[in-house]
Amino acid sequence: MYQKLKEYHVDGQKVYFQYEGSSKGEEPCVEVIADNIFNVFIDYTGMGHCTRAIEGELGRRLNCGKISENGKLESVSWEESGVVIRTKFLTVVVGDNFDVDFYNQEGMPLSLAYRGERKRNDAPSQAELQLLAKEGHEASGRSGADYQVQEIRSFDPKDCVYGLGDKTGVLNKRFYEYEMWNSDIPDPHEDNFKSLYKSIPFMLVSKEKGAYGIFFDNHNKTYFDLGKESDAYYVFGADAGNLDYYFIGGECLKEVISGYTWLTGRAPMQQLWTLGFHQSRWGYESEDEIRSIAAGMMKYDLPCDCIHFDIDYMDHYKVFTWNKETYEDGAKVIADFKEVGIKAVTIIDPGVKVEKDYYVYEEGVRNGYFAKTPEGEVYVNEVWPGDAVYPDFGKPEVRRWWGEKQKFLIDMGVSGVWNDMNEPASFRGPLPDDVVFTDEDVQATHAQVHNIYGHNMAKATYEGWKELTGKRPFVITRACYSGSQKYTTGWTGDNHSIWSHIRMAIPQMCNLGMSGMNFIGTDVGGFGSDCTPELFARWIQLGCFSPLFRDHCAKGCRGQEPWQFGEEVLSISRKYLNLRYELLPYLYDLMHECEVTGIPMMRPLVLEYEGDENVKNRNDEFMLGDRMLIAPVVEQGAREKLVYLPEGVWYDYWTGEKKEGKNFFVRTAPLDLCPIYVKEGAVIPKYPVRTHVGEDKDALLILEAYPGEGTYWHYQDNGEDFAYRKGAFNEYQIRSKDGRVEVEKIHEGYRPYVRMEVKTRKMIWPR
Ligand code: GLC
Repeated sequence: MYQKLKEYHVDGQKVYFQYEGSSKGEEPCVEVIADNIFNVFIDYTGMGHCTRAIEGELGRRLNCGKISENGKLESVSWEESGVVIRTKFLTVVVGDNFDVDFYNQEGMPLSLAYRGERKRNDAPSQAELQLLAKEGHEASGRSGADYQVQEIRSFDPKDCVYGLGDKTGVLNKRFYEYEMWNSDIPDPHEDNFKSLYKSIPFMLVSKEKGAYGIFFDNHNKTYFDLGKESDAYYVFGADAGNLDYYFIGGECLKEVISGYTWLTGRAPMQQLWTLGFHQSRWGYESEDEIRSIAAGMMKYDLPCDCIHFDIDYMDHYKVFTWNKETYEDGAKVIADFKEVGIKAVTIIDPGVKVEKDYYVYEEGVRNGYFAKTPEGEVYVNEVWPGDAVYPDFGKPEVRRWWGEKQKFLIDMGVSGVWNDMNEPASFRGPLPDDVVFTDEDVQATHAQVHNIYGHNMAKATYEGWKELTGKRPFVITRACYSGSQKYTTGWTGDNHSIWSHIRMAIPQMCNLGMSGMNFIGTDVGGFGSDCTPELFARWIQLGCFSPLFRDHCAKGCRGQEPWQFGEEVLSISRKYLNLRYELLPYLYDLMHECEVTGIPMMRPLVLEYEGDENVKNRNDEFMLGDRMLIAPVVEQGAREKLVYLPEGVWYDYWTGEKKEGKNFFVRTAPLDLCPIYVKEGAVIPKYPVRTHVGEDKDALLILEAYPGEGTYWHYQDNGEDFAYRKGAFNEYQIRSKDGRVEVEKIHEGYRPYVRMEVKTRKMIWPR
């Protein structure tokens, strides 16, 4: 479309380009957002930026077209290769055809526009696609097709691709094709699914040297072809909207994640108890049943911090109501749970039941809060309560209303909210594209706001809870968009109790973490289908090291509480639940680190050892922070595990055996053992085993020191509210050398531990 570059002009941190054949007003623009972040923008809609992911001051500036103030454009000049724009970290060259190339400080290309021919030969025609669709085959094979809005960029042969949110399949997304369209798919999730519940159009590329990220901030339906069409390039595009992407350059993936989360926000610290064990099921059908779950946790000596109330607690699935017949005195159940340290989290879906005199429905209709048909009628589809209507969360007023509605739950004593079905799901066919919603201050179609529906619902919920409780709101969501991590944690939806799904969970959670969604979990044991004792034992082991640790399953499936699988599995569950509670201070430190840097708690090995070829496609191991490596067993019948340890010296957590890294070896792994390795020089802060998080939180901190030398920073606060943002926290610098540990308090703002104890791990040195 753009041809020969004619002219450019600079306006603050923005550079506009004029091309032959294009007129004023059609000038594409490149803007320095930060020294390592550029925005590339073509205003096809004529409405400027429309970001919902980037908020705060930067978001406001972007949305109203003001000049950014963070990065510094150091120079712009016309050179042989095109217009050359320099910042401290990146050089960007813009040439004919609006080809944009990015180079690092040393002039090494990080990402180049693709200038060759497209490989279109195997692209199905429109007629063929329609035929495929008619026959029930997936008709999204748009390989070779052009999108309304699109960008084509070159791949280097060794590039690996990560991120993209909750996509199924393997860790490295190179050669696969994806779509961003929040989708509730009840069938068992397969590796080849193109979309799932969340849309996070952010990809990270790890290169032989250096890394970069592309955040395509367009919340219409978007597409990523990462090498299906050709090995030489990738394509991303959208059905509508602007070409609006951020290029984030870095020396490594971690820098790219930090850049992306600086833009879209970092997952904030959650309340400490949220790191405990959560027990859930659809459905605990009565007060007696749910009470028996709390009793079971105590009877079997299983630590637990939270029980989830699925849709059965509601009166006919009407949100913000309570089913008085089956759950007679909800507030009393919740208060009794609190007595024993267990919190209640309740599910809230967006679909509001159509029912005369039901207050939420009546209020919403009266105030025009629900989505409408193009003819102006309230749009009705079907979800759990039967006929239901959809709050128009894109409207700030509706978000405020929904936020205030949370008071119902808070007054009952509930501690957090689980937002489900917010793709939004619908049982009577998908919502038509033209259903009328709002996107902040403008009217929008369903097609335009579908991908941010869950984001806006979570935001409304978060803001309501923050306002009403002053505590860090605990929200879990199924659907979301980029930037939702500021408001909500998430889970990977309706997986199944099958071995392929425990395997898939690892890359899925790792990629979500790299996409900003730090606090993430899978339904431990699997949601659909019947779990087996062996699978449950292995999944509890994986859950123990996942940020969100929740056991959940569907109606009609075999019960999945830890005591449902016999003595052996019960005692395995107890072992890993206890370990989880011991590791709480370590996990909390990681959550704090994430709020500061954006780096997730759960990390694929490639994040820590990017130069190591052996880890680029490692799907069945991960790191918890930078010093614990977890190698869960995810194969039925396996009693050993092939483990790869990257460079350095490692210690087997269970035996203390020393292992030299950059090696593969086979670790024996009986059913009760998940292989764990700790890096030389590590200190792991631990609590003594406890029944729930709040119990004597600050009484004793155990510092478990491994041989070698290292420094660790430990963080402590009240684990509840936002006082830490005003300095109410302690920070300790812990230096260790071969078991000798020195602790220095480097920030004091909260009550200290009553006691700290150093424990030196007994190590077995290879004979
Ligand atoms: C959806 C959720 C699931 C929940 C069920 C009933 O399928 O993904 O977690 O249990 O709805 O509310």
